[in-house]
Amino acid sequence: MFNHTTVLLQETVDGLNIRPDGVYVDCTLGGAGHSEYLVKQLSDEGHLYCFDQDATAIAHAQVKLKDYLHRITFIHSNFKFIKEQLEMHGIEKVDGILYDLGVSSPQLDTPERGFSYHNDAPLDMRMDQSAELTAYHVVNEWSFEDLVRIFYRYGEEKFSKQIARKIEAARETSPIETTGQLVELIKDGIPAFARRKGGHPAKRIFQAIRIAVNDELGAAETSLQDALDLLAVGGRVSVITFHSLEDRLCKTLFKEASSMPELPPNLPMIPAGMEPKFKLITRKPILPSEEELEQNNRSRSAKLRIVEKIKE
Ligand SMILES: C[S@@+](CC[C@H](N)C(=O)[O-])C[C@H]1O[C@@H](n2cnc3c(N)ncnc32)[C@H](O)[C@@H]1O
Repeated sequence: MFNHTTVLLQETVDGLNIRPDGVYVDCTLGGAGHSEYLVKQLSDEGHLYCFDQDATAIAHAQVKLKDYLHRITFIHSNFKFIKEQLEMHGIEKVDGILYDLGVSSPQLDTPERGFSYHNDAPLDMRMDQSAELTAYHVVNEWSFEDLVRIFYRYGEEKFSKQIARKIEAARETSPIETTGQLVELIKDGIPAFARRKGGHPAKRIFQAIRIAVNDELGAAETSLQDALDLLAVGGRVSVITFHSLEDRLCKTLFKEASSMPELPPNLPMIPAGMEPKFKLITRKPILPSEEELEQNNRSRSAKLRIVEKIKE
């Protein structure tokens, strides 16, 4: 079973102002919820390119979207290669691109994939199962300093050093093989008074390792930059993020793209050609409604930002 409840469905897709004959890209196909809603609005002149680095997501979507396959091209690739991949299909400009960043529920809920701190499973956490770097490699082979860096930076974990020290000591005896062993070491590294606050004690460290294993921030930054270039005038990008690091990245990029360059003071008017190429459609991020929050707990940290290209 491949069960993923789509977050901010209408807000994300309707925010792209779909034209039936337009060319669109879903960079994060997953359970194909956004893709299904989008492709149904296209005519046979329109087209949807769907990316996912997880082969199981593509295989599932080929069945779920079987009635629309003539309007869809599936691309099994990391979305950081969006430009090269679309070029290979003869596409240089598109009318809309969407991202629903992070992991899907099937990835989280399949214990063997090692994303979850609720199950005991091998340390894996790869979204792309053919990638070389796994959580096992990070936990057992990365230096103390590198672990501390990712725990602080990607997990915003206050006890990063203490936890990295526990990991370093444990792996001197024998390798850390499973998510269960890692959870115990994390708990040992956090003082008892702090362990009961802020959700599951392993949440932040698991997030940090997952971001590192999949180079999530690097891929998102490269891809979003290219997405802005790929837009035709009037085209839009919608991005759903699930944690503050991703949201900051998206907010900063969209703000830079839609801001005026620094001009000398007292200029009577903005010189032609210097106006920004993009306009923010969402000054503040769109959040899930009360109703969505009640139905889908996993939507609670979602934030949607949209930007539009207004000139070349
Ligand atoms: C949150 S799910 C998307 C759910 C989907 N929007 C839906 O409605 O069912 C994110 C998906 O994006 C994929 N993904 C995440 N980062 C990726 C990347 N850098 N390149 C390609 N796919 C990625 C994951 O494998 C996962 O299947």
